[in-house]
Amino acid sequence: MSINRPKGTQDIVPGNVERWHYLEDEIRKICSDYGYQEIRTPIFEATELFQRGVGETTDIVNKEMYTFEDKGKRSITLRPEGTASVCRAYVENKLYAQPQPMKLYYLGPMFRYENTQAGRFRQFHQFGVEVLGGDAPLVDAEVIHLIWEFYRRIGINNIKVHINSVGCSECRGEHRERLQEFLRDKKSDLCSDCQVRFEKNPMRILDCKNTSCQEIVANAPTTLDTLCEDCAQHFTKLQQLLSLAEIDYHINPKMVRGLDYYQKTAFEVIAEGIGAQSAICGGGRYDGLVEEIGGPTTPGIGFAMGIERILAVLENQQKDSEEETKRGVVVAALGDLAQQEGFKLASELRKAGISTVMDLMGRGLKSQMKFADRQGARYVLIIGEEELTKNIIIVRDMSLGDQTEITRDKIINFLSDKLTNSELLL
Ligand code: HAM
Repeated sequence: MSINRPKGTQDIVPGNVERWHYLEDEIRKICSDYGYQEIRTPIFEATELFQRGVGETTDIVNKEMYTFEDKGKRSITLRPEGTASVCRAYVENKLYAQPQPMKLYYLGPMFRYENTQAGRFRQFHQFGVEVLGGDAPLVDAEVIHLIWEFYRRIGINNIKVHINSVGCSECRGEHRERLQEFLRDKKSDLCSDCQVRFEKNPMRILDCKNTSCQEIVANAPTTLDTLCEDCAQHFTKLQQLLSLAEIDYHINPKMVRGLDYYQKTAFEVIAEGIGAQSAICGGGRYDGLVEEIGGPTTPGIGFAMGIERILAVLENQQKDSEEETKRGVVVAALGDLAQQEGFKLASELRKAGISTVMDLMGRGLKSQMKFADRQGARYVLIIGEEELTKNIIIVRDMSLGDQTEITRDKIINFLSDKLTNSELLL
């Protein structure tokens, strides 16, 4: 009996992995452009971190964590998200002692025991950013700008940025009371999850996906109705900055996000045309989180975006991220002696910084040409017995479809002159 991969996971195989490389390269590039440094935290953490950090009332903690006891009887959880881990690492490594704000990014797998469907996995990957130690609306605006610019660079433009302010612990108290008052006589009509939320975290009822709950809260008081002076000013300032940067945002007072740590700014990016799982990015401010997990009072804001969902959008837009440009060199040698010469030539080319692939299967010329085409090579260097005798190499230009003969000792210079920097690598 064969063994299959676990439900909700994916193998990322050659032919597909190139798209991941492309996104990973773009992620590292934009983070470096905006002055963000990478942080890597463990894939598993003490369960308590997420219970305290993400929050006991969230679906993630209640229903979706991969939690187990290790051999030392510690409760361990595969990380369902990155924010709590980054905050823990910030405290544990005393990153607060360094110049602030600390601008960090991460990229890696997250684990949630979810009901799987298109775009919703049990192991998925997030690119996330966290800025710790800066409380100004300018920080919020920069974080949202990074997202906007990232999607522009990779060619995703069919998106909506939803923003909201969920208030702080002060103004949220008043909202909670007003919302409970509004919902009290409608409570029994709410879905079973929302009946529990009514007591524990009524604000979450505002963005329940259940249609009858949505009808009930259509005219319910939102957090924007009860913002304190400080939160209201923060939100206004953020909108001014987003307008200055020409970011097309929409205020969505019902979008409150599913994690407990948010305060003030919350946002989500929605993509068109990829079905139900259209949230390609979510984030917000979490000024109380670092303190909650035992660190000094530190403001924080960040986001995470699902790589699988970005790839789905790219595919949907048919903006395939695979490079069309032909690159690098394939050495096609025919016969034993030519193969030895080809091997030597390949090592010289590689030493000269030219990406080179060689047929390792002793195929005939026709299939080696097909192989070169599949590799996307810019040039094929053909060596047979005749070329060996004449001390030449046939250089086939795969873009133009023509070929020339070059003497063996001129080949490296010839290729170095011909290949531009971007074509050197396969
Ligand atoms: P989140 O909204 O739970 O926020 O997840 C962020 C993004 O991860 C979602 O918008 C989606 O693109 C992707 N995602 C989430 N769950 C899945 C899944 N099961 N399968 C595929 N993709 C998924 C957070 O995780 C927060 N830590 C974001 C944040 C960072 N807030 C502040 N800083």
